[in-house]
Amino acid sequence: MDSEMYLKKIIPTLLIIWNLAVTMTEGYQIGVGRADCTGPAVEIGFMGYAKLGQKGSGIHLRQFSRAFVVSDNEKRLAFVSVDAGMMGHPVKREVIRRLHKTYGNLYNFDNVVLSGTHTHGGPGGFLMDVLYDISILGFVPQTFAALVDGIYLSIVRAHETMGSGEIYIGTTTVLDASINRSPTSYLENPAEERKQYQYNVDKELTLIKFVSDKEGLIGAVSWFAVHPTSMNNSNQLVTSDNVGYASILLETEMNPGAMPGKGRFVGAFASSNLGDVSPNIMGPKCQITGNSCDIQTSACPQGEGECVASGPGRDMFESTKKIATRIYNAASKLVKNSELRKITGSVDYIHQFVDMPNYRTIAYNPLTRRNEAIRGCIPAMGYSFAAGTTDGPGAFDFKQGTRNDNPLWNAVRDFIVPPTDEDIDCQSPKPILVATGRARFPSEWQPKIVATQILKIGDVLITAVPGEFTTMAGRRLRNQVRKAAVEASKEEFQVILAGLSNMYTSYITTPEEYRAQRYEAASTIYGPQTLTIYIDQYQKLTKALMKQIRIKPGPDPPKLDSQVISFNTGVLFDAHRIGYDFGACLIEPHSNYSIGETVRSSFISGNPRNNLLLEKTFLTVERQTGKDNWEVVLTDANWETRFEWERVNVLLGFSEVHISWEIGEDTEPGIYRIKHFGHYKYILGGVFPYEGTTRHFTVSD
Ligand SMILES: *[C@@H]1O[C@H](CO)[C@@H](O)[C@H](O)[C@H]1NC(C)=O
Ligand SMILES: *[C@@H]1O[C@H](CO)[C@@H](O)[C@H](O)[C@H]1NC(C)=O
Repeated sequence: MDSEMYLKKIIPTLLIIWNLAVTMTEGYQIGVGRADCTGPAVEIGFMGYAKLGQKGSGIHLRQFSRAFVVSDNEKRLAFVSVDAGMMGHPVKREVIRRLHKTYGNLYNFDNVVLSGTHTHGGPGGFLMDVLYDISILGFVPQTFAALVDGIYLSIVRAHETMGSGEIYIGTTTVLDASINRSPTSYLENPAEERKQYQYNVDKELTLIKFVSDKEGLIGAVSWFAVHPTSMNNSNQLVTSDNVGYASILLETEMNPGAMPGKGRFVGAFASSNLGDVSPNIMGPKCQITGNSCDIQTSACPQGEGECVASGPGRDMFESTKKIATRIYNAASKLVKNSELRKITGSVDYIHQFVDMPNYRTIAYNPLTRRNEAIRGCIPAMGYSFAAGTTDGPGAFDFKQGTRNDNPLWNAVRDFIVPPTDEDIDCQSPKPILVATGRARFPSEWQPKIVATQILKIGDVLITAVPGEFTTMAGRRLRNQVRKAAVEASKEEFQVILAGLSNMYTSYITTPEEYRAQRYEAASTIYGPQTLTIYIDQYQKLTKALMKQIRIKPGPDPPKLDSQVISFNTGVLFDAHRIGYDFGACLIEPHSNYSIGETVRSSFISGNPRNNLLLEKTFLTVERQTGKDNWEVVLTDANWETRFEWERVNVLLGFSEVHISWEIGEDTEPGIYRIKHFGHYKYILGGVFPYEGTTRHFTVSD
């Protein structure tokens, strides 16, 4: 090779490669993906209100898993927001196991965060810890499988569509979507601390958006602290509630013409420090008289009904829509804002399992205002846990703020398993109602080993916590993580709190709030210093992350799979009246409708649990576009449609579905029909598909 050729050809080529390498390591590889994870919509108890008998009977909004993968070409991470009550360790373990099979060690416990939105309208039975599956009557393999399948698929879709791109962050406020549901507990926090904040809940919405070099805007995650409890405990339709509907609104705007749950743009509304935050902004009232409840105990005088907070709408559906629209509007503006701050810097992560009851440290105790020995307690739930909240009161006559116990309930408690004197002392002033940490039958009741984790994208830290932090607890954790990061790195950081991540351990209040023993405090399971321990642990994680120090993985959480029991039964068989067939339309729509009216129809059906139709639908609303051409305009995931299943005769296995469609304002006039899709279980074995169609009807202006 002569030197001239060397100069003319090789050097420029090397320069191009060099430049490419530099630009590649400077930017990010980003991918987004979404998948359906709607569990069994009927016959299974809902997770959230712990109300026995609140079982599914159909679908209003489907559940989705939304995944975001980021790599700086050296390290990668995945953040996943799931329309579910929370996340559980067995779910994450199974998702990681499947990712291992597909991608080797690319995705693992340390670099994947699964965060539940905390909707109270999804089927339960996926956590394995006894206390959390009790109101569902035990473990439900079908719920578990739907979640695992959907979460896994959403990550695969994000992975498979990765390409170079940029990431931006911005913050705005949403003033009219949340209130504090334990305001008297919040007041227990020191005045000088409260003075730093304008509100007793966080009104900020923080959004990270993903812009692909080739495709433009492909996704966004928003964090806003609010309970998805706009739908109350009388709801029996699967729903992703206010934040889930906000996702659908944002995705519909960004994916014009696409059905809910489809389309390139993925928009998640993830949970944060929502522990004491309610969307029922009209506040609590005694249900019968409309009088105010007692503010300390959230109780009403005898005969005035339960103390329940309501939302801004005429009913829970309208309240859900209003709160969703407010959150969505804020995020939509941010997504379109071209002046968001660009995130640059390395991708990194850190994870450690921690044995909470055995945690010992010297740390600042805000109750004594001294540095002193801090310990965790064996998990226990207090009396006020049974009182429930103003979003969903409990079943018995328990009051929030209960600091004295009662001999009768103590006898019931001791019948299950008595707490030790040491438990009582450690958890004080919480009167123990269930000594969950001592119960062993049939398996662990609440976790003792928890997952702590931080994701880093440039100067943004996503602190993933295994429970529901209250407003002030979340603020303290974020502040202390930021402080630790700044001290260790001498750089500025923005800290986000990702709630209900990886594992569920109920609530985390401040030690001051703990004293008041309202619902959130009674459900702070490792005792008064639970938050102090978390602050200590996340500071350690932050320092190690900043200084690139390797830490031990911590003890493995126990495997409960072989110990779980369930009183839920599967589908036995389906049948129908003589002279009809599955899919036969029993109630036909009228011949014509105008916009704003509701179309109703009923079909002979099988049990929807025979096939969850993930990524598909139990119904379509179709518009005629040619002699034999019909266009699907709505599915069971649309706001306007409701799919309800009714068991007509248990012994004979008869059932029907009722489909309703509230004709929306932007509906095109024309000829329409409704279809129902399902599967029936034949009495002699086998599951078979069927479908049914209504007659045609017209929709006019
Ligand atoms: C739930 O909301 C509905 C209105 O949609 C209302 O009629 C009902 O009383 C509420 N139930 C509870 C327990 O709050
Ligand atoms: C709609 O139906 C009603 C009765 O079912 C009928 O009287 C009316 O003429 C119909 N209107 C149209 C526009 O078809």
